[in-house]
Amino acid sequence: MEERAIQRIFILGSGGRLGAALMKEWQKLDCLKLVSLSRSELDFSQPEAAVNVLKNYKLTEKDFIINCAAMTNVDQCEEDSGLAMNVNATTPGLLAQLAADAGARFLHVSTDYVFDGKLERAYRETDQPHPISHYGASKLAGEEAVMATSPHHYVARVSWVFGPERPSFVDQIIERAFTSDQSAAIDDKTSSPAYTKDLAEWFQIFLQPEIDGGIYHLCNSGLCSWREYGEYALQVAARYGMPLRTTSVAPLKLSEMKNFIAQRPQHSALDTTKFSTLLGKPLRSWQEAVEEYIRLQVTGNRLQD
Ligand SMILES: NC(=O)c1ccc[n+]([C@@H]2O[C@H](COP(=O)([O-])OP(=O)(O)OC[C@H]3O[C@@H](n4cnc5c(N)ncnc54)[C@H](OP(=O)(O)O)[C@@H]3O)[C@@H](O)[C@H]2O)c1
Repeated sequence: MEERAIQRIFILGSGGRLGAALMKEWQKLDCLKLVSLSRSELDFSQPEAAVNVLKNYKLTEKDFIINCAAMTNVDQCEEDSGLAMNVNATTPGLLAQLAADAGARFLHVSTDYVFDGKLERAYRETDQPHPISHYGASKLAGEEAVMATSPHHYVARVSWVFGPERPSFVDQIIERAFTSDQSAAIDDKTSSPAYTKDLAEWFQIFLQPEIDGGIYHLCNSGLCSWREYGEYALQVAARYGMPLRTTSVAPLKLSEMKNFIAQRPQHSALDTTKFSTLLGKPLRSWQEAVEEYIRLQVTGNRLQD
């Protein structure tokens, strides 16, 4: 990595799936000084108190802040839209303003759920967002609040995040197949999985001061339905010797999900051309990423790659 002026990198939401991955992967880069701020240290539901916590660090232009904290439970956001707005929009906007005032750059993590899922191709950064849930609306408001404070800040939209730091769909479907020979997942909802290990590698490019501020889409390449994603994970897990009772996943329809409170976008894959051009290489496929994730799970992370 090239020499840079950055002295401290603040990871907000460091206890979550992505935040914890950044802490773990970036600790290996011993040239970086990481400051971890989890929910117990910086609570986004209390905007003023959160600002005061970050103020105490006396930010300078040599600091970089990454916000991975969010209220991510889509149905909870639907039931408490006020809290979702505070956590996902108001506080990120205030923290981004604090960073901008100090000349520090701020990377805010966002979501494919800012789109309505009705487009017939993957979404580009230039496509008009149109959220259909309070979660999506609060995340879009967060993007706008952050970008209003500085043209040098970043919004990184990601989708279907998986990794070892916190169980996700991949882990749940494998877990279920240990004890049941019945497996089912939605087949008419598509997007692109994103492996936390890959996101942690890709995010490093934003540390370079010459990278233009703005919105970027980041996820593994290719798209799939939940059913295809789950079935692929089961097949890989079985290949690595996991004693599963099934490797096939029956199709469900999104409209059959009566327990969903919030509406979900049906087709929300992200087009990553802008980011892969910036990186100068294609982003590896979701299948390669899932395969590596499961292999590392099976081998107990003994392989260091
Ligand atoms: N997961 C996905 O599939 C997905 C898809 C698209 C976009 N994203 C975006 O990716 C980012 C990271 O998500 P993730 O997958 O890492 O989710 P996650 O595991 O739920 O992590 C979110 C983190 O935010 C913290 N948090 C929640 N409420 C908070 C509050 N009031 N104050 C401070 N921290 C709070 C959580 O704390 P606790 O540890 O205490 O719960 C957790 O550490 C988010 O911006 C999310 O919107 C995720």
